[in-house]
Amino acid sequence: MSPRTAQTSAPVIESLAERWSPRAFDLSHELPEGALRGLLEAARWAPSANNTQPWRFIVARRGGESFARIVDTLVGFNQVWAVNAGALIVNLAETTDAGGNALPWAEYDLGQAVAHFSVQATAEGFHVHQLGGFDRDGVRAAFDLEDRLVPVSISAVGKIGSADDLPEVLRERELAPRTRLDLESLVLVRD
Ligand SMILES: Cc1cc2nc3c(=O)[nH]c(=O)nc-3n(C[C@H](O)[C@H](O)[C@H](O)COP(=O)(O)O)c2cc1C
Repeated sequence: MSPRTAQTSAPVIESLAERWSPRAFDLSHELPEGALRGLLEAARWAPSANNTQPWRFIVARRGGESFARIVDTLVGFNQVWAVNAGALIVNLAETTDAGGNALPWAEYDLGQAVAHFSVQATAEGFHVHQLGGFDRDGVRAAFDLEDRLVPVSISAVGKIGSADDLPEVLRERELAPRTRLDLESLVLVRD
């Protein structure tokens, strides 16, 4: 248990309770090649509509050329902290299949795959912080993506660092209490 552990109204599995999105990543920790294999494998086994598996990933470890290209697409507020992550993963939805048929659940399915990735990350001692603040067209151009591949989010992954190393405004957010709507307000009908 840490001060960031979810305060749940019923027990949940540890990897869910301990998952949260830090901005302080440990710059001294380098991800060895293959370190994210289990996380990607967890994503691979997510459910999807008609088993279409419409998720694709660009995996870029810190120090590499792809990582720098992704950092260039981040809005300034995200760039400040995400540049210290061990890796940045672009989460892509494949919105049509190779034959041009629409995959209407693609973004929904991608979200489930990213959730699997995040929970597996927690179980393996990593943290993930997803972000939507980036230039989608910039990512498209940087990786010469086909139109049917939509960059939906980016996941910053790595070992957690110290909040003391963050700029003041981010440090405050890092330490602020975590909040959620009450379960009662989420369940609209319960028979
Ligand atoms: C699709 C998506 C987009 C997000 N975009 C950003 C972002 O651009 N910048 C950021 O700092 N956090 C971003 N977040 C993180 C959320 O703010 C965070 O998950 C939420 O506040 C709940 O906190 P927790 O993950 O620690 O429980 C995003 C999360 C998701 C799922």
